[in-house]
Amino acid sequence: MTSDLPSKPIIRTWKLHKSFGSHEVLKAVNLEIPETSIYAIIGQSGTGKSVLFKTIMGMLLPDGGKVWFRDTELSALAPDALMAMRKSFGYAFQNAALFDSMTVEENLAFPLKEVLRLKDREAIHQRVTELLTWIELPGIGSRRPDTLSGGMRKRVGVARALILRPEVLFFDEPTTGLDPVLSETINNLVVRVRRELGITCVLITHDIPAAFRIADKIAFLDQGSIIAEGSPAEVARSDHPLVQAFIRISFVERTAGSIHAPQELGL
Ligand SMILES: Nc1ncnc2c1ncn2[C@@H]1O[C@H](COP(=O)(O)OP(=O)(O)OP(=O)(O)O)[C@@H](O)[C@H]1O
Ligand SMILES: [Mg+2]
Repeated sequence: MTSDLPSKPIIRTWKLHKSFGSHEVLKAVNLEIPETSIYAIIGQSGTGKSVLFKTIMGMLLPDGGKVWFRDTELSALAPDALMAMRKSFGYAFQNAALFDSMTVEENLAFPLKEVLRLKDREAIHQRVTELLTWIELPGIGSRRPDTLSGGMRKRVGVARALILRPEVLFFDEPTTGLDPVLSETINNLVVRVRRELGITCVLITHDIPAAFRIADKIAFLDQGSIIAEGSPAEVARSDHPLVQAFIRISFVERTAGSIHAPQELGL
């Protein structure tokens, strides 16, 4: 999978640091996300995955280190320029972040009107309708998000992240809280976003088997540092005890029907 990817990274970080007070959350994170890849970030809860996402996207400012999007150093941009550059990024957060007081169509039209300043109602309707068809939920434009199932909401959340046609789509735990069948639907959607739209997908996930199945590259974050990174096969070969424990729990002990959390995880 990785071999036919172009080597030039679309996103790169160098010695990225982020602290909240005396709490050092990111410690010198270096990563390279290849263009048009699916890049998964895995690791225990509270280890800094979401903070890493927000720091890359410019929603949080790093305390040290650099972030590049192609050849542009985001960490050196003035706020206005950073804001403009962020239009290249879409993000789908865990709770889908939809406005329940608006219809699905209004939710999807909102960024077109507010960010792109589109006014042509017919053009907006057409773009929304096409996208709802693409996520295989045609005809739900007039529904309110709180009347949709959890899986449908997630897909609408992905559609909302796609509506501005970003170059990179960030997913923070897109399958958490979904049953295995719905999780698979969302994982397939990530695969389609990359394959059919050519968008680089960066995802944080606790679904380790899915990460190993769909990602081209995986980064394992532990307490703000990357302890393993590479293709799924390379990460699987890591001799780091925590990485091995994660893999063992996710693939071996879970499928055997019993979960014994190893001591390394402190559970
Ligand atoms: N705005 C903030 N102010 C202070 N501390 C924060 C802030 N955001 C995150 N943190 C802290 O940073 C640490 C990492 O949080 P983060 O949300 O990145 O974890 P995570 O790896 O995404 O965990 P999970 O898998 O549970 O989502 C946590 O200790 C969290 O409390
Ligand atoms: Mg998180």
